[in-house]
Amino acid sequence: MNAIDYLRISLIDRCNFRCQYCMPEGAALDYLLKSALLQDDELLLLLREVFTPLGFTRFRLTGGEPLLRPNLAELIAHIAALPQTQDISLTTNGFLLAEQAADLYAAGLRRINISLDSLDADTFDSLAGTKGRSRWQQVWNGIQTAYEIGFDPLKLNVVVIPGVNDSELMDLAALSIERAWHVRFIEFMPIGNDDLFSDRGWIPSEDIRQQVRDRWGLDEGFVLGNGPADVFKIPGAKGTLGFISQMSECFCDRCNRMRLSADGWLRPCLLNETGQIDLKTALRQGREPAELRQQVQQLLQLKPEINYKERDAGTTGRYAKTMSQIGG
Ligand code: GTP
Ligand code: 5AD
Ligand code: SF4
Repeated sequence: MNAIDYLRISLIDRCNFRCQYCMPEGAALDYLLKSALLQDDELLLLLREVFTPLGFTRFRLTGGEPLLRPNLAELIAHIAALPQTQDISLTTNGFLLAEQAADLYAAGLRRINISLDSLDADTFDSLAGTKGRSRWQQVWNGIQTAYEIGFDPLKLNVVVIPGVNDSELMDLAALSIERAWHVRFIEFMPIGNDDLFSDRGWIPSEDIRQQVRDRWGLDEGFVLGNGPADVFKIPGAKGTLGFISQMSECFCDRCNRMRLSADGWLRPCLLNETGQIDLKTALRQGREPAELRQQVQQLLQLKPEINYKERDAGTTGRYAKTMSQIGG
């Protein structure tokens, strides 16, 4: 069985974008009140007393948009300082990155994944729900700033949507040639976005790999990560191409992660809430960390069975929550 040592921590459910695939228009988004969010001291206590003793050593911070979380750099410094922390990373939309990248780096963050679905400002803004207040340039500046500061690996996430950005995938792939940027193509998943998904469908990673082979050739690649990406590279490129193929493949049996939601629920699987635990309420009721540890350990033991349910559920599009609420 896989070691489950990777925790994805959603720090906030809010986002300053409204990507159609993640927070579709009309989706009922009841944002959490500040008091409902797991607070920094509660999160750190859970990491110290519950998760690291159970073997969790890798942490990824997500949202919504995690750069909207107040005092983020300080929180990162605390997580980085835990003796068991081996890896800390963050997934962002990049909009606030130019202004925050230096502080995040100083706090100890080194690995960063940034969404970049298009190189065309209009397509970008229409997908991100930011039409009329173009955000592309600001995100691009954020990526450049993070690269200059030295984030490594720096990954660019592209959710591939037929008829929206599929005509520019080779331009996006080319970003991996000159710079050590790791471009990842993600198969579009039906989570809380039934209309767009049934309209557009998804493109298998293998089709994109074939386009790359036809144009440049494709070698095996390698880049540090904890995730489900299959990694290749354009021959001679400084960066790599990753493919995250949750629709055409099932990687549930190599799943190494659990998810902590912004309001403190521990969730065993992206697509499955079976057995989830309300850790925040338990903490606020004064329950002892030892008791919570035991509950989490039981959930860890159940996880392989839960993963296989994900395989069945993975293509149906019947999820009540949006990606932004789960944390991607
Ligand atoms: P690293 O390899 O450590 O960089 O992490 P990652 O690739 O998991 O991080 P990121 O937050 O960039 O996630 C990229 C995408 O992978 C997500 O948006 C999802 O589409 C997909 N993904 C991540 N975890 C899971 C999972 O547990 N199940 C499924 N089906 N998809 C996942
Ligand atoms: N399908 C695939 N990936 C998605 N993401 C958000 N919604 C979806 C979806 N429906 C990705 C974003 C971001 C990551 C956190 O989740 O691109 O990079
Ligand atoms: Fe926000 Fe990221 Fe979702 Fe886009 S994908 S709406 S940037 S949380």
